[in-house]
Amino acid sequence: MRLIVTSDLHYNVLRSRQPTIRIAEQICGLSSRRGDAEPNRADALLILGDAAGQDTAILRDCLHLFDSFAGRKLFVPGNHDIWTTPDGSSLDRYQRVLPEICREAGFHMLDVEPVVLGNVGLVGCMGWYDFSFRPRELGIPLRFYQEKIAPGAAARMDRYAHLLESTHDVPEETLRMGTRWLDGEYVHLPMTDEEFCGLLLRRLDEHLARVVEMCETIVVGLHHVPFRELMPLNDNPTWAFGRAFLGSEALGELLLRHPKVRHVYCGHTHKAGQTTRGRIQCINTGCTYTEKRYELLEL
Ligand SMILES: [Fe+2]
Ligand SMILES: [Fe+2]
Repeated sequence: MRLIVTSDLHYNVLRSRQPTIRIAEQICGLSSRRGDAEPNRADALLILGDAAGQDTAILRDCLHLFDSFAGRKLFVPGNHDIWTTPDGSSLDRYQRVLPEICREAGFHMLDVEPVVLGNVGLVGCMGWYDFSFRPRELGIPLRFYQEKIAPGAAARMDRYAHLLESTHDVPEETLRMGTRWLDGEYVHLPMTDEEFCGLLLRRLDEHLARVVEMCETIVVGLHHVPFRELMPLNDNPTWAFGRAFLGSEALGELLLRHPKVRHVYCGHTHKAGQTTRGRIQCINTGCTYTEKRYELLEL
């Protein structure tokens, strides 16, 4: 079985549009409709999130770029795919709207139900963050991560005044950090991020248990990062604040508890990388806004 994996197409972002169209053409050219003569024939495609943003019409258009891909088409959303207007619900977007859009566009959303192709189990989960990746050396109190705003940025906005009522625990130098993680503005969940992350991990665990007897090998597709070594290292402390939102330690630990999981893919950081943990080879596809890539896995 040949599986193609890509992510972070960001079709709603102007500079990402042409690169997305180009890679979609390339990927469609690899599908089995071209016949067995094609040496790189692909049987399945897995898109790992951040395909678009708030506007679901753009997500539809993006998925339809793959209409001529003849193999199985699978989707896992990213954080941008659950961005909504302030009156919207990101949970409803994740659980109801996105699976419907996928179905209409000929994709199957793996977060809803895993798939077994031959002797390979394909399991997917957007993943989320629980702040376990936050850089503790910065000394920024947890409440800033929970509100997704660095102390310097919070100090400039009235609605975050409560975070700075007492500054005894806020390191002086972090008051110059003007970063915000934009999920804070566009993700609307009826629970904390830690709870949402826990919910997704429980489902992932269930899905892994469901396919284990039906396959020899399990491939997992995620949007968020399961292992810390796949986070881009950047000494700029402003960027370091963002590490808290890249993934979760518990996500990687969960995968390591399932011996049939051999291949894991993720996206989200826009930085390519790979690591081996125990039996697991984990690859970050590393698509950026202007350069799209795909990985090919042969099993
Ligand atoms: Fe992205
Ligand atoms: Fe993302």
